[in-house]
Amino acid sequence: MELIEGIKSRRSIRKFTDQPVTKELMEEIVDIARFAPSWKNTQSVRYMLITDKAVKDRIADEAVMGFEWNTKIIKGAPALVLLLTVDKRAGYERDGSESTSKGEHWQSFDAGIASEAFSLAAFAKGLGSVILGVYDEAAVAGIVEIPEGQKVSALIPVGYPDEDPEAPKRKEVADLLTVK
Ligand SMILES: Cc1cc2nc3c(=O)[nH]c(=O)nc-3n(C[C@H](O)[C@H](O)[C@H](O)COP(=O)(O)O)c2cc1C
Repeated sequence: MELIEGIKSRRSIRKFTDQPVTKELMEEIVDIARFAPSWKNTQSVRYMLITDKAVKDRIADEAVMGFEWNTKIIKGAPALVLLLTVDKRAGYERDGSESTSKGEHWQSFDAGIASEAFSLAAFAKGLGSVILGVYDEAAVAGIVEIPEGQKVSALIPVGYPDEDPEAPKRKEVADLLTVK
């Protein structure tokens, strides 16, 4: 898939067919996403694939802060990826001191870059996905064991698309770019 076309035509997908997402396909997607840039190449993002319906449904019911919109998306997806990040890597020196005055900021920054790389890789492989930010991290951790020292930085339901949404309106370049 051509890069610019891929960036422009990827959409958040919130309705999926029942077709399962295999571990092998997820390995192919992560094999692409792992080339995303990261703070000093620390590569602190991890992907946890959940296909167990009971676990997925519990997250949908108990860990989205009552936001039923997200409950429905997760329940309707054959797979849910938890995008995890290892603490104190992005933005930190080897001795644990902060590299900048922005502290933990870079952890989420790397998670965001990885999320886009993952979403584009999934899209190129025929899958749809949507990045979810409305969830309760502690509630997720109460349902799935999150490795110590890692955070849940996004939930990403994944599956074969059962919709073809229009692109939500984008701001014009003139509204986004200033030249000094
Ligand atoms: C950090 C982040 C959090 C998001 N959280 C949610 C969410 O909780 N629920 C949802 O339906 N979409 C969520 N989205 C998807 C956005 O609504 C979507 O990307 C935006 O409307 C643009 O649409 P597009 O991805 O199809 O271009 C989130 C996206 C990002 C980047």
